[in-house]
This record gives sequence, structure tokens and C-alpha cells, in this order.
Amino acid sequence: MKLTKTLLTLSLLSATSLAQAGEVEVLHWWTSGGEAKSVAVLKQLMEQEGHTWKDFAVAGGGGESAMTVLKTRAVSGNPPSAAQIKGHDIQEWAGLGFLTNLNDVAAEGHWDDIIPPMINQVMKYDGEYVAVPVNVHRVNWMWANPEVFKKAGAKVPTNLDEFFAAADKIKAAGFIPLAHGGQPWQDATVFEAVALDVLGPQDYVKAFVDLDMDALSGDKMVQVFTQFKKLHNYIDDNSPGRDWNVATSMVINGDAAMQIMGDWAKGEFTAAGKVPGQDYLCFPALGTQGEFTYNVDSFAFFELKDAENIKAQKALAKTIISPQFQEVFNLNKGSIPVRTDMDMAKFDQCAMDSMKEFKSSSTDGGLVPSMAHGMSTTSYAQGAIFDVVTNFFNDRDADPKQAAQKLAKAVKAAM
Ligand code: BGC
Repeated sequence: MKLTKTLLTLSLLSATSLAQAGEVEVLHWWTSGGEAKSVAVLKQLMEQEGHTWKDFAVAGGGGESAMTVLKTRAVSGNPPSAAQIKGHDIQEWAGLGFLTNLNDVAAEGHWDDIIPPMINQVMKYDGEYVAVPVNVHRVNWMWANPEVFKKAGAKVPTNLDEFFAAADKIKAAGFIPLAHGGQPWQDATVFEAVALDVLGPQDYVKAFVDLDMDALSGDKMVQVFTQFKKLHNYIDDNSPGRDWNVATSMVINGDAAMQIMGDWAKGEFTAAGKVPGQDYLCFPALGTQGEFTYNVDSFAFFELKDAENIKAQKALAKTIISPQFQEVFNLNKGSIPVRTDMDMAKFDQCAMDSMKEFKSSSTDGGLVPSMAHGMSTTSYAQGAIFDVVTNFFNDRDADPKQAAQKLAKAVKAAM
């Protein structure tokens, strides 16, 4: 009798744990110090709920390698539960029939009310939620080491002219003015900051969202390439191939003065125990004060077959939007929460500035999608822009006028 009862209890127990024990396999490219700390929060929360986390990390900033690996996996009929997919790519994956409908989780969590419509719209395909936003990154940031500025007697720049003046002093004092990794997406990240400054938000949108041929090849774009080229004088010779977080560590260590990079760079400063305003400075890149280049990280959810894994997948979607995850993840990641109803008490000055500018730029026209991070156009047009930008940046003799013409031609061919 006793034994039967024990067996019954055991089988009931295992039935309950089985009911919860789904697996989530999550593809992402968060492998730097700050990024890894951030994604570990999600793993921990899922495991606390009794699910198994299968990490599918593919290193490589900007996610190009991750996307290549994902395609192979999905095409062979074995997609992960969720993958870090952003912007236009979400529509593309959904259009091909790979993604699943998350409307029930979204309705239960009132996503329509707590996430800005501009972001929700990208997460939906044909009125169905197929992806979940994680955060809002601001890309047009500059990170600086105040000690280096002090030693060089240079002033923190608020525009391109001041940047060049400061960079000359920093170089003369024996430091690297601009920490940079020579990879196409990093070149594009710097290029779009210069473009936003020189073109202004309206023409930036014409060029990188509307793919307007005149905006892509016009005089102002020639000016963008001209200024962009000058930045190369302030980068060290070892930059080709360098990872973005290695460039950030050069600023942290005081070898370099500045880096132009999205606020995932802040995740590296945070992971190194550095305090903004004291150990490092954050300020809008070049002359882009009041403007905000956004990059929303998101996970697209794939159609699965196994019932338990589907349950775990839904739990993942719910967890990503939860205030608890939104707070801890974004504190580590350097971004701001995607929910508009969050208490920001624990966030630092850079995050507060980011939130303030995100809100104000969304009403005054200064909010623009990042081209370099897949927000403004298709991956085809983006790839075409990357090629032209990188080739130009790496060729000392390249001509800005020809580059602008090449840019328009390459984009046209990719449309
Ligand atoms: C992603 C960030 C990531 C960065 C560097 C960006 O495209 O949106 O989440 O930290 O690439 O890997």
C-alpha cells in the first residue's frame, strides 16, 4: 500500500516536471563580456521556471555570422526556438512561413499597450506577433576616457570640427584618438553617425529608408564620404579585423580616447566596473545631439512541433517582456527597456539620457532607424551599402564623389 502510494506520488511528480520541462534553444550573437552577462539573465530565469536552456551562440558583432548559421539550420528543417532577428529580416522570415504566432502571449501581456507602436509594428507580420522586442539601443553614441582628454589637454567634442581639433591634440600626446575595429558593420556604424550629422534626419531617412537615388548620390552624400574619410587619420594601424569590444577595452584602458559605437559598448564599461561621468563619458556622436539612431534587438520565434518545447517557447516570450527581465537585462546590456511603463530608478545617466532623447526625438522627427544594424532597410540594400562604405574606408585613394555614385548604383542593384 505504502509503496503504491509512493510510486503514485513519484509518477505524479515526474508528470508535473515533464509538463514544465520544455527546452528552448536560443540563437544569439551576444558573446562579449557585457553581452554574455545580459543573456545569462534570460537563461537563469528560464531555468528557474523549470525549462532547459540550450545556448546557440554564434560569435560576431552585428550578427552577420549568426544569420548565416541560422539560414542553414532553418533550411534543414531544424530551427531553434527563437533567434535574434531584427527589423526587416523579421518580415522576411515570416513571409517564408518559418515563424509562429505569439498573439495569445501578447494579448495576455498587453503588449499592444506597453510597447511603442513603432516597435510593435516591426514585431508583427500580417497582424500576428511573430517576434518579441528585447530593448532599445541608441547607436549614435560616443564613449570617451576623460583621463586621456585631460592628459592631452583636449576638449570633449560636440561636433565634427571639434572632434578633429581634439583628435589632433590626442594624437600629438601619443594616444589613439579613435578606437575602431575594421569590420564592415563597424565601419557602417561610424559612417551612419557621420551621415546623420551631415545629412540631418530627413535626408538620412531619404537615403537609408526610402533609398532615394538623389539622396544617395547627391552633394551632401559626397560631403558625408569626405568627412568619413578624414576619421581614418585618427585610427591606429591595427584596427583591421578588430572586434568592437576590443576597441571598447582600448578606451577603458586609456590607450584610446574615444569610440563611436552603440550603447552595447556601455555593457563593457559596466562589466569592467566603470562608472559613467567618472571613469568614462557618454555623449551623442559628433553633431547628433537631440537625434536618436535606434536599434531594437528582438527574437523571432520559430514554428516548432514538440508540445513541451512550444510551452517553453511561450514562457520565453513572456519572460522577455517581464519587468524583472527588462530591468536586469538592460542594466547589463547598456540599452533601455522596450516597455514604456518601467521604473528607471536603477539606470545610470547614459540610460536616462537615452530614454529622454528616445521620447523627445520620436515627436520632433529626430528618431531614425539604424542602417548599420538592420533597422532601416532590407539586408540586401544594407549589404550593398556595407560593401561600398568598407571599400571606400580602406582605400586611401578613394574619391568621395565616386563613392556616392557607387553607393546609389549598388543600392539600386540590390533593390
Ligand atoms: C546588436 C547588439 C549587439 C551588437 C554587437 C548589434 O547589432 O543589436 O545587441 O550587442 O550588435 O554585437
